[in-house]
Amino acid sequence: MSEALHQLDQTADPDSAYAARGRNPTSTPSLLELARMSRRSMLKWAAAGAGGTVLGACSASAEKLATIKPMLGFDEVPTSTDDQVTVPAGYSARVLLAWGDPIGDPKGSPKFAPDASNTAAEQALQAGMNHDGMQFFPLAGSARGLLAINHEYVDLGLAFADGASGWSAQKTAKTQAAVGVSIVEVQRSGAGWHVTRPSTGARRIDARTPMRLAGPAAGHPLMRTLESPQGLSTAGTLANCANGWTPWGTYLTCEENFHAFFRARPGASDHERRYGVTHPQQVMDWAASDRRFDVAANPNSPNHFGWVVEIDPYDRSSTPVKRTALGRFKHESAAPALARDGRVVFYMGDDEPFEYLYKFVSAKRFAGLPAGTTTAAALTPEQRAQFGALLDEGTLYVARFLPDGRGQWLPLVWGQGPLTAAAGFDSQGDVLIRARQAADALRATPLDRAEWCAVDPRRGEVFVSLTGNTQRGAPGKPGVDAVNPRAANEGGQIVRWVEDRRDAAATSFVWDIAQRAGNPNDADPARRGTQSATAAYANPDGLLIDDRGILWVQTDMSGANMSADGGKLFGNNQMLAIDWRAGVTRRFMTGPRGCEVTGACLTPDGRTMFVNIQHPGGGAMHPAGHRYHSTWPDGRLGARPRAATVVITRDDGGLIGD
Ligand code: FEO
Ligand code: CA
Ligand code: CA
Repeated sequence: MSEALHQLDQTADPDSAYAARGRNPTSTPSLLELARMSRRSMLKWAAAGAGGTVLGACSASAEKLATIKPMLGFDEVPTSTDDQVTVPAGYSARVLLAWGDPIGDPKGSPKFAPDASNTAAEQALQAGMNHDGMQFFPLAGSARGLLAINHEYVDLGLAFADGASGWSAQKTAKTQAAVGVSIVEVQRSGAGWHVTRPSTGARRIDARTPMRLAGPAAGHPLMRTLESPQGLSTAGTLANCANGWTPWGTYLTCEENFHAFFRARPGASDHERRYGVTHPQQVMDWAASDRRFDVAANPNSPNHFGWVVEIDPYDRSSTPVKRTALGRFKHESAAPALARDGRVVFYMGDDEPFEYLYKFVSAKRFAGLPAGTTTAAALTPEQRAQFGALLDEGTLYVARFLPDGRGQWLPLVWGQGPLTAAAGFDSQGDVLIRARQAADALRATPLDRAEWCAVDPRRGEVFVSLTGNTQRGAPGKPGVDAVNPRAANEGGQIVRWVEDRRDAAATSFVWDIAQRAGNPNDADPARRGTQSATAAYANPDGLLIDDRGILWVQTDMSGANMSADGGKLFGNNQMLAIDWRAGVTRRFMTGPRGCEVTGACLTPDGRTMFVNIQHPGGGAMHPAGHRYHSTWPDGRLGARPRAATVVITRDDGGLIGD
């Protein structure tokens, strides 16, 4: 911990949720609770100095810190190489919605065909593949809600009995229907949680759904395509990795590796190369039947992807909006915070080796929900759309980490610094479409793959998982620095920062490396992970901070790490919980073979956790005739493994993790 951050830690609020077991929503509300407040009480709360990422009191004594009770009350789960989900004693984990399960669309509920024979039209009414980020939107407290789930990509060996062979327009249609977002209605009953089928809330959004482009890049010449000559509309979202949400009850889905869906043109431009749109041949050849994915025919089409997309989950007829003010890159998540003055802030990683960390600060303030409205669900669609316009105006910043433990947020504002016409940027829209090049010009700090961000609104700490970067220090690549201290970084690290004045809108911060993941037994102390041998993990990725301040970490370990030490050291990918104040990291869950554990959310009462299992089988997929590496969750010999949402509850109905 840096000295500056250590001092901040000593001044944290001892009465915050960190110190209290259980939730304390009245004194230090979470962002969602803020959204439920009346405008008057929200402003009163902010004026009292507790706003957003700001903590009110600053008076923790050493004695008080010494009496803090540990928050984690479950027995640690050991590492596992089993083909199943494992949770602590006293907890239950059940599969809620797997790839191919019907979402409950009123138009029909086609059953999953285990032989992969579902058609494109059927897939459009079923859950997509490879679940990732996710958020619960309450309909009736914590017992009923809408679950919005990202689907990142398609494994062709699973989607079709004959894999990618004989690519066809039908295969394009089915795979386009298997990405995007599922919105399902879920409900808790005496028998546990189930998906409501049919439900008027159920909706699939996929690579074909009509969308609006909004913000400074909308209408820019680089956004004009054959289908959208004005550059104001588009269709589809894909590569939906992690997510975010807003205090007005909308879902943010983040587009990550969009380049993989495009047939590049020979002699790609510098701009296309900067975003990796360089592969003229794609196995999943959407371009063969959809010219949107043929860069030679439609050169600006890739500029329609790489954005944060806002979806109103409560309005099935709403048009999703790509919010270009948040910048175009390979978005991981968009973690929300409120500045002291009520401006809305999102922290966002760009997940490729040597890419950057960003934040967006809205120009206008979120003044709370209208008087008389107690929940975001009670807003009208028009009200939610009006709040959404907050995302169209503001400042995008990129982070520079200094070696002394301080950091700067550098504004990506056209006309400022190097972002001028003389340097080749013609407008703010151009700066946002080419955010990576703008961040290069600002000399931001290249990171070891910035995955999810998470904000603790009570203590003002923000976290980003840097999942690892084996290219660090390689010939011709950037070497080690303070925030990326390991060459050939196989383990990854979690970086933490606190904004100056604990104000999410600040332009400077203090930071440290909160945890260094990886092998705790590494002979080289510089490479060693900082966890105990029993709670060792590598490659942090998904992050969630609950209302008590527990940081939940999900892993996306490489195959090499998963099989390290014969699979005993780390085992399958997993989910851990960190209680910073007690200094405890504990493994909570292990996933099936070959999977990545990614995406988690809680019901507002903290008693149900939803977790996503992505790519069980780990890409060791084979077309018909071969055994899969995993048969989870169906468990029959030869069954196709299926990504799925798992619902975790405590048998005694208690708080998850407590
Ligand atoms: Fe989709 Fe960076 O993980
Ligand atoms: Ca990820
Ligand atoms: Ca990852």
